[in-house]
Amino acid sequence: MIGAFLFAAILLYRGIELGRGIDTAVNALIPPPLSAEERKKAEEKSRREAQEAIAALSKITDYEAARWHPLHFKPAIDTASNEQCLACHQEVLTHKVRPRSPAGVEAAQSIAWYQTLDTYTGSQDTFHARHLTSDFAKQVMSLKCTFCHQGNDVREESPGASATAGPATFALRKVVNPTETCLLCHGRFPSEYMEGLEGPWHKLRENFESADVPNGCLVCHAEQFRTNRHKVNYLKADAIEKAAKSSSDVCFGCHGGRAWYRNTYPYPRHSWPGMDAANVPEWAKSRPTESRPEHLVGVK
Ligand code: HEC
Ligand code: HEC
Ligand code: HEC
Ligand code: HEC
Ligand code: HEC
Repeated sequence: MIGAFLFAAILLYRGIELGRGIDTAVNALIPPPLSAEERKKAEEKSRREAQEAIAALSKITDYEAARWHPLHFKPAIDTASNEQCLACHQEVLTHKVRPRSPAGVEAAQSIAWYQTLDTYTGSQDTFHARHLTSDFAKQVMSLKCTFCHQGNDVREESPGASATAGPATFALRKVVNPTETCLLCHGRFPSEYMEGLEGPWHKLRENFESADVPNGCLVCHAEQFRTNRHKVNYLKADAIEKAAKSSSDVCFGCHGGRAWYRNTYPYPRHSWPGMDAANVPEWAKSRPTESRPEHLVGVK
């Protein structure tokens, strides 16, 4: 009995010692904290390196070398900054749309319905400018090239084209995967998940809005439901709430107001203060409860 006790005590002691040994080894790996001056130097160094990387890309003049540059593909594309891509692709932001189509239709005379949203400003602009440099884009989003461009396969444009091809990870003949990008902000208004709301927002909104209440969404979403939202690295959560105080078009814009799709994105369902955790609606049972890991705030 005493023997067994002693044996256990020795084992416990050895375990603690071993643990300490590992701690010391780990501590030796963690560098000591940097002084303010060292930190400044390190930041300058990484800024200089980034500028050098961009300058090196700008010097590539061989078309094939540029076109097949490894930065286009996995794994390098995951490390690319907007500035690196723009070293060769300035034109995606500087091109302007034609003031008039070849058939003679004036751009300014053919306004689409989403251009009537309160948030829409300026004359018609290109797709890339509307997501990266328009006033509203800069106010509420911080999209990177690589949010949409994940490194498409330029050689094989059809997924699953051969028996040995792995499971399809891209959409047919598309440079980006629309169901994991566009659909997030261009789905239909998901009223079927909102108890008490039936039908499209344009029919419902006057029941919720008045001169004093310019944003009907916030009648339910300021305090009651799904208040824990937008904490992702490509959206400016606080700026969205601030802008939304004056118009529901801010919210509706990304949740039905520019719906290029008939379906809606199955958003993660984050828990919120006051949520009834015991009664999860049927539709929500399959939903994740956190945003995708690569989109969490702090992940570059
Ligand atoms: C060194 C210059 C260079 C860099 C850096 C570069 N590209 Fe390119 N890219 C090219 C060239 C050249 C082409 C071919 C253009 C053509 O044929 O019209 C191309 C083609 C593309 C295409 C069209 C592909 C297709 O399938 O049609 C996309 C999209 C693209 N680049 C995105 C990016 C993104 C995103 C980045 C940053 C991660 C990037 N590029 C970085 C030079 C570059
Ligand atoms: C909101 C998503 C999104 C973002 C952000 C984005 N792109 Fe694109 N890009 C697209 C789509 C969609 C296309 C058209 C794809 C197709 O035709 O299949 C495209 C096309 C392109 C092309 C092909 C030429 C053209 O103009 O059609 C280039 C080059 C390109 N993007 C570069 C970039 C660069 C560089 C950035 C960052 C500064 C960027 N993109 C940011 C979605 C995006
Ligand atoms: C993170 C949200 C977000 C994502 C992802 C997104 N968009 Fe947008 N999109 C917006 C916003 C916001 C606007 C309005 C910008 C403005 O008013 O200046 C917009 C505007 C547009 C417009 C109107 C452009 C114009 O000139 O009026 C088109 C077309 C469009 N998006 C297509 C797409 C496509 C295709 C994708 C996927 C490749 C995509 N969007 C991904 C938020 C997004
Ligand atoms: C009458 C109250 C009410 C109004 C008004 C309302 N919502 Fe909702 N909304 C809800 C409820 C309830 C849910 C579901 C809560 C849950 O997860 O159980 C919800 C869920 C959502 C979701 C998540 C859907 C999903 O698939 O996870 C979005 C996005 C949303 N609302 C946007 C809006 C926008 C934008 C407006 C205004 C244009 C709006 N809501 C107006 C009550 C409302
Ligand atoms: C620029 C586009 C954009 C705007 C503006 C916007 N949303 Fe969203 N919303 C999104 C995206 C993208 C997600 C999914 C984010 C994620 O993956 O966590 C989302 C998620 C949500 C969710 C699900 C919350 C959760 O994680 O459980 C609700 C509810 C919602 N939005 C309501 C609103 C309301 C209300 C407003 C106005 C105050 C608004 N949205 C404005 C793009 C937008």
